[in-house]
Amino acid sequence: MKKTILLLALCLAACTARSPYVSIQDPMVRDDFEFADRQLRVLLHDTEAILDTTTLTEKTKVEPHSVKPDGSLVLVPPRGWTSGFFPGTMWYLYEMSGDEFWKEKAMKFTEYLESIKTYKGTHDLGFMINCSYGNGERLAHVPGYKEVMLEAARSLSSRFNPTVGCIRSWDHGAKWQFPVIIDNMMNLELLFWASEASGDPSFREIAISHANTTMANHFREDNSSFHVVDYDAAGDGKAVQFNTHQGYADSSAWGRGQAWGLYGFTMCYRKTGDPKYLEQAEKIAAFILSHKNLPEDSVFYWDFDAPDIPDAPRDVSASAVAASALYELSTMSADKGAAYLAAADKIVKSISEKYRSEPGANHGFLTHSSVGNLPGNNEISVPLNYADYYFIEALVRKDRLANGKPVVPAVN
Ligand code: GLY
Repeated sequence: MKKTILLLALCLAACTARSPYVSIQDPMVRDDFEFADRQLRVLLHDTEAILDTTTLTEKTKVEPHSVKPDGSLVLVPPRGWTSGFFPGTMWYLYEMSGDEFWKEKAMKFTEYLESIKTYKGTHDLGFMINCSYGNGERLAHVPGYKEVMLEAARSLSSRFNPTVGCIRSWDHGAKWQFPVIIDNMMNLELLFWASEASGDPSFREIAISHANTTMANHFREDNSSFHVVDYDAAGDGKAVQFNTHQGYADSSAWGRGQAWGLYGFTMCYRKTGDPKYLEQAEKIAAFILSHKNLPEDSVFYWDFDAPDIPDAPRDVSASAVAASALYELSTMSADKGAAYLAAADKIVKSISEKYRSEPGANHGFLTHSSVGNLPGNNEISVPLNYADYYFIEALVRKDRLANGKPVVPAVN
């Protein structure tokens, strides 16, 4: 009943007020942002209702992450790897609407994460801090945000091993000595920013070493990537095991892993101008876009080699990450820019038409049908906050391209 009244109030407000997204030219993109604005108010409402009755500590679950099979809202604590995506999505709504409401809420949920700046137990600090504080610093230059980001970059750098040439991804997993996952490419963006912001080249050197080592060891002949590569850190630092954790098999192409690689190497080319990163990104794009198991609507199966295709679950999050990367790559490629743009457009159109939540449903998450960890029997065909973040980021990039702006604005 309370939720029905809230939805009616939101619809009434939306009908009577002039949309802050009215200047967006593309009707689909405008509609997606208006939808996102209404949905995220539901997600905020449901999250704040929980937090209002909770005593907050550094360990409190504060950020919305997903929905459980029983319909309840899943929150994660600041140290959860997805903690930065909800504030990041609100920062994008602030960017597109100019609405101070979104800035205020984005700041509130960003600042819940401050304590993790000194957390040295994960490689995911890049995701957590860059999506939240990074967008806040870019859009609002909030005093103190830069310092939090630099501290986080120092914490992330502490995981670098010069013998291996990489940042260690996880501390868990008894079967590995020094596991590095393809996802780790995403965390390098914080390090590139830290060198630009501080003038200290060491962050950038770590990022480049990590990218080069990953390029040498993570990729197979067909340009798909392993999920986990384990290194002999105690010995000569060489790669010794090639495995999966969230994919179907060690030899398979886990969908989101291919998207993380595509996004990561595209970003590395933006940050360095080194053509080998562009070449790697284009090889990954070719693997994905020419794959026989890329569905007609371009929304990935959770693994390109899932044995039950075409009945295998889709993973909207993987496609959303790939779409955002392809928008950027479309501005870099010498001869395939139009093809990448068309591929990105196809993905966002499919997500918009087929994978958006029903209005007011899923506690306000924007999309459904993502997969967190299928082999772990965890989060199969559910909403996930990172699917929403990269869907919205892809739409921001689409709009920027349509307006002749740089697809990715500078942070500093
Ligand atoms: N970085 C974890 C994942 O993609 O599931």
